[in-house]
Amino acid sequence: MNNTHINIAVLVSGRGSNLQAIIDNIENGTIPDASVSLVISDIKDAYAMERSKNHGIDAIFVDPASYPDKAGFESKILQFLKEYNIGLVLLAGYMRVVGPVLLDQFKGRMINIHPALLPSFPGLHAQQQAFDQGVKVSGCTVHFVDEGVDTGPIIIQKCVPVLEDDTRETLASRILEQEHRIFPEAVRLFARGKLNIEGHKVRVIE
Ligand code: GAR
Repeated sequence: MNNTHINIAVLVSGRGSNLQAIIDNIENGTIPDASVSLVISDIKDAYAMERSKNHGIDAIFVDPASYPDKAGFESKILQFLKEYNIGLVLLAGYMRVVGPVLLDQFKGRMINIHPALLPSFPGLHAQQQAFDQGVKVSGCTVHFVDEGVDTGPIIIQKCVPVLEDDTRETLASRILEQEHRIFPEAVRLFARGKLNIEGHKVRVIE
């Protein structure tokens, strides 16, 4: 049993429905060992910022255009993560590839949600990639972040069948429903100290 309370930072770029799912699961007691202390957005008017404020969570816009390179931009983010004593970073619709400045400090403590069954369809527009490919099953993946694009050790996956009359939008919205389940579950397991990374595999100790 791990009784340490964890301060979470969530990195976002958009609508923030996964952020909302994490906040809701903390507020309803499903994730008892953690709180969202900070939200950082690389997009000024991301709706995720609004959601944070609605729950009294500090939300900070870090403008990538204000820094000469990714290292400079990530150093600013790192400064906030240290200031808020962050123990876990979640990428919740954060549309940038994380570089070494953040990864060196948070490897094994940074988790991403991706809307496809990795290693299929990494990168952008994953639901559209799957739909266009004509797969019969897609889904979503929660994984630790490593140096690659959506290549890190997988924590949880959930399958979502592609239906005959699906459009990209209906498929994406059914995948999103499952994202909102498995992301909080992965955070709960992490906060309880139940995730062991062994090589490229994650062992869940219940
Ligand atoms: C989610 O579907 C998430 O899996 C995806 O962006 C969406 C964000 O929605 N992330 C990626 O594609 C990362 N490559 P949200 O802002 O409502 O959580």
